[in-house]
Amino acid sequence: MYTSKISGLGHYVPENIVTNNDLSKMMDTNDEWIQERTGIKERRHIKKGDGNSTSVMGVKAAKIALERAELTTDDIDLIVFATLSPDMYFPGGGVQVQEMMGMRTIPALDIRNQCSGFVYAISVADQFIKTGMYKNVLVIGSENHSGGLDMTTRGRGVSVIFGDGAGAAVVTRSEEEGRGILSTHLHSEGAHAKELSLEGPNTSHWVPEIIAENPTENIPYYPYMNGQFVFKNAVVRFSEVINEGLQANNLSAVDINMLIPHQANLRISQFVQRQFKLSDDQVFNNIQKYGNTTAASIPIALSEAWEQGKIKEGDVVVLAAFGSGFTWGSAIIKW
Ligand SMILES: CC(C)(COP(=O)(O)OP(=O)(O)OC[C@H]1O[C@@H](n2cnc3c(N)ncnc32)[C@H](O)[C@@H]1OP(=O)(O)O)[C@@H](O)C(=O)NCCC(=O)NCCS
Repeated sequence: MYTSKISGLGHYVPENIVTNNDLSKMMDTNDEWIQERTGIKERRHIKKGDGNSTSVMGVKAAKIALERAELTTDDIDLIVFATLSPDMYFPGGGVQVQEMMGMRTIPALDIRNQCSGFVYAISVADQFIKTGMYKNVLVIGSENHSGGLDMTTRGRGVSVIFGDGAGAAVVTRSEEEGRGILSTHLHSEGAHAKELSLEGPNTSHWVPEIIAENPTENIPYYPYMNGQFVFKNAVVRFSEVINEGLQANNLSAVDINMLIPHQANLRISQFVQRQFKLSDDQVFNNIQKYGNTTAASIPIALSEAWEQGKIKEGDVVVLAAFGSGFTWGSAIIKW
C-alpha cells in the first residue's frame, strides 16, 4: 500500500513590491481601508520586462522544490499545474513548464479550480501516487493577477486583494503508513459560479464581439467578486471542510500543529482560527506581504512556514481552501 508525502517545497514572488499607498495613487483607496478589511499591506506585481509570467514563476518555484526534494527533472512522472491566469488561453501552463524545464514527455495536467487549485492539485497527485501509477509528481500553483486587474477606482473592490507569485511541491511515493498526505476532501457548488468570476472573453462572448460592443461599464474581461457573499460562504465552507478532514482521521482541532489556510483575506483566516480555538502559532498567514495569490497562496505559505522551521517531522498540517466556483477543499498531512 503506497502513501504519498511532500518531499520538497519552493516558492517565488516577483521583486516588485506594490504597497497600499502605491495603489492609492492609481485609484480611490487607502492603506487604512485595505488593512482593516483584508489585512493586506503589500503585494507583488510582475513588472513589464522582468521576464516573469505564470509559467516562468512556476518554473522558478519548481526548481527550488525539486532541489529540496533532492530529485532531478528526470525523476518527475507527472506535472499538475494549477492557475486561473495562464500565459495562454490554451494550452495550459503545464506543458510550458515541461518544455522550460527540459523534462521528458511526461504528462502535464492543468487544474482550474482557482483559490482551491492547489488543494485540488495535491489531491490529484496523491491519487496517482496511491494507485501506484506514479512515483513523483510536481505540483505547481502560480498566478499572474496583476496583468488582468482593473487598476482604476472601478475595480478597487477586487484589485487591491490580489497579487502575483508561485509555489510548488514535489509529492513523492512513500511506504510509511500513517504519514504523509492522510486524506484530501474536495467540494464544489456551481450555483454560485458567477459570484466570483471572469466571464469573458469566452466561447459565447468572443473577442471580436466584445470589441464591437466597445463596453465602458460592466467590462466582462475584468474579474467580478461579490465580496460579502464570498466572505460569508468562505467562513462556513472553510470550517466544514477542515472538520471533515479532521473527523476522517479521528483528529480534533487540538491535534493541529499548523493550519495553512488559503490566503483569501486575513479576516477570514482569523475567523476560522477563532472557530477552532487555535493559537497564533497554529495558523500561518502571509497575506500581509503577498495579498491573495489564489492557486499559489497555499504553496507559498507552506514553503515559507517550512523555511521558517514552523513545520516539523510528525506535525499535523492542515491545508484548507475556498474560492471561485465555488470550490473548496482540505488536505490533512502528517509531516
Ligand atoms: C472585498 C471585501 C474586502 C470588501 O469589504 P466589504 O466590507 O464587504 O466592503 P463593501 O464591498 O461592502 O464596500 C464598502 C464600501 O467600500 C468601498 N470600497 C470597495 N473597495 C474599496 C477600496 N479598495 N478602497 C476603498 N473603498 C473601497 C465600496 O465602494 C463601498 O462604498 P459605499 O459604502 O460608498 O458603497 C470583503 O467583502 C471581502 O474580503 N470579501 C471576501 C473576499 C475574498 O476573500 N475573496 C477571495 C476569496 S478566494
